[in-house]
Amino acid sequence: MVAKRMANIPESGTVRITNIVSDLKAQGIGVISFSVGEPDFNTPDNITEAAVQSLRDHFTHYTPSAGIAELKQAVAEKSRKDSGIPCEDKHVVITPTKHAIFMAFLAMVEEGDEVILPDPSWGTFEACVRIAGAKAKFVTLKEEEEYRMFPERVAEAITKRTKMILINSPSNPLGSVMERKDVQGIADLAKDHDLTVLSDETYEKIIFEGKHYSIASLPGMFERTITVNGFSKTYAMTGWRVGWSIAPPHITKEINKLQSQTVTNVTSFVQIAGVEALRGPQDFVQMMRNELKERRDLVYDLVSEIPSLHCPKPKGAFYMFPSYDQEISSEKMAEYLLKEAHVAITPGSAFGPAGEGHFRISYAACRQDIIDGMGHIKEALEKL
Ligand SMILES: Cc1ncc(COP(=O)(O)O)c(C=O)c1O
Repeated sequence: MVAKRMANIPESGTVRITNIVSDLKAQGIGVISFSVGEPDFNTPDNITEAAVQSLRDHFTHYTPSAGIAELKQAVAEKSRKDSGIPCEDKHVVITPTKHAIFMAFLAMVEEGDEVILPDPSWGTFEACVRIAGAKAKFVTLKEEEEYRMFPERVAEAITKRTKMILINSPSNPLGSVMERKDVQGIADLAKDHDLTVLSDETYEKIIFEGKHYSIASLPGMFERTITVNGFSKTYAMTGWRVGWSIAPPHITKEINKLQSQTVTNVTSFVQIAGVEALRGPQDFVQMMRNELKERRDLVYDLVSEIPSLHCPKPKGAFYMFPSYDQEISSEKMAEYLLKEAHVAITPGSAFGPAGEGHFRISYAACRQDIIDGMGHIKEALEKL
């Protein structure tokens, strides 16, 4: 018998779609993929070279569990400079971003606790809340309000059981960027109700309009915020599995306990690559952002030409999350678009209850694929 806990953990909503993609490929049918959550750029060479050199230098042993001093310093320095987070290296744990989210919830919540999550939001948040034994309390974000997370709505969701609020700006899957007054309002609520905030800032450097505000930089917030961020999206390093958490000492201590008793440390030479990413030239980030902005404009124009799709213009990340008029489930829509248009998208149901009736387009694909894929989607939707 497996543990009862496992029944609480949702399966990935995309498995069936992945199976159909494999079947189509086996039949020699090409599929345009708008489903991957990673930039289609290569890791910059200077970063790769730093890792290769450290391998040659035999930097292949255990490191301190929370990460090598140089990388923790580089992360703290970057977070003070770019985001105004009043942190030092002792507040940093080097770990894959997704693992940071998992450890943060495991360290902070348990059975009987509630965590406020925006809906739609990335499915991993809810999964990790459940693994920790707690419950998600969703705050529905509305398309006609440009998916803003209004503090008044968050206030309505707070109960005696609430322990944490999660924010994610720019958002996966919405591409929305939080406004300063909303971040401030949520900070005030956290202070008034003695709550911890988990702020996922993974897409911080991929903002086309607006500005990034780290909630941990606001007065009185550092003590109650866990900020997670990483290298995956900013430096096209998804496969390297490295990111970080920043939290006050009493939380960092617990996160580090979990890290040291599980993965021990992030791969030694990958940490050296991380130092190079943060301290080396940053022109790659600017280049990628410019390119993604052009693709955002392109995909937005193409979506706007399809009468049954509706979506505010995303201001960040590399996702669009249109709603559709057709009355079929998002799982069925994904299956239909795959079979009819040979385009893979992610069904909205993977992003919480309010994701139903939507699908996510990841436009980290080349421009020709965007033009062809959106053309096929248009034709397929006209037939429905
Ligand atoms: C909002 C968000 N946070 C975190 C991550 C995970 O980052 P990593 O792959 O670096 O663990 C992702 C990846 O898709 C994401 O969308």
